[in-house]
Amino acid sequence: MRSNHFLNRVILDRAAVTDWEAYPFSVPAIRELNELELHPKVTFFVGENGSGKSTLLEAIAEKLGFQSMGGGRNASAGQFGYESALTRPLRLARTQNRPLDGFFLRAESFYNFATGLDELEQQPFCGGALRWYGGRSLHAQSHGESFLNLLTERLHGHGLYLFDEPEAALSPQHQLSMLVRLHDLVQDFSQFIITTHSPLIMAYPEAWIYQFTPAGIRRVAYEETEHYRITHAFMRNPSAMMRELLRREDGLGLGDGEGREP
Ligand SMILES: Nc1ncnc2c1ncn2[C@@H]1O[C@H](COP(=O)(O)OP(=O)(O)OP(=O)(O)O)[C@@H](O)[C@H]1O
Ligand SMILES: [Mg+2]
Repeated sequence: MRSNHFLNRVILDRAAVTDWEAYPFSVPAIRELNELELHPKVTFFVGENGSGKSTLLEAIAEKLGFQSMGGGRNASAGQFGYESALTRPLRLARTQNRPLDGFFLRAESFYNFATGLDELEQQPFCGGALRWYGGRSLHAQSHGESFLNLLTERLHGHGLYLFDEPEAALSPQHQLSMLVRLHDLVQDFSQFIITTHSPLIMAYPEAWIYQFTPAGIRRVAYEETEHYRITHAFMRNPSAMMRELLRREDGLGLGDGEGREP
């Protein structure tokens, strides 16, 4: 029987780390890392800004042979990448299944990736790459359009996909569309590791959520995530939340009844 599992676990060989004071080992979540078991379908990395999610995702991507800038494996669009010091001591426990497809998406370097793809398209014998991205330059599409094209046209299934904050490009409606496409790809034997701040995306049911904290990385239920709790509390009563947030002892905030309540 075919299974989605390509990666079982990510392990930090702590004995191979030489300098715990320097980045990336100085990041508390990385400093505490021993090993993480991955869900066969979807694993989410969540947590505060700066908690180390991208640091770990990039090192996993590099270990798998993806370019740091994002893209497919051997994607020459990402030729300006660097190697993270975390890559060397990181071990990946793989199954005997081999992915037939793969992609590393970094929202923050998508612009450079798009430029690299355009350059590739101009080179002799390398044209045609854009057909996987909706047939035209990613610069001629909106951020969200190009990402949705990538999801539908470039990703083929039976793949190992790493996404860093895919929601950056997407409206709430399109985040839901992304979940539908993600589910199709999961049904088609794909495995994902995704960092996200989106309470919509992390609701995907066949997933584990790892929260990155200063005390380490721990698995949490969806409803336990800060993203769910804050968004839920906010949506239940935006005015009360805003009053609480903007309350000033000197009465200048909304707490004095001068707010935007109807
Ligand atoms: N190249 C670097 N050199 C030194 N410190 C770095 C480097 N890259 C990231 N950091 C620091 O490491 C910490 C973790 O960064 P990282 O990008 O992994 O956070 P993150 O969890 O992905 O945050 P966000 O949610 O904002 O994307 C941060 O404090 C960041 O400033
Ligand atoms: Mg990040």
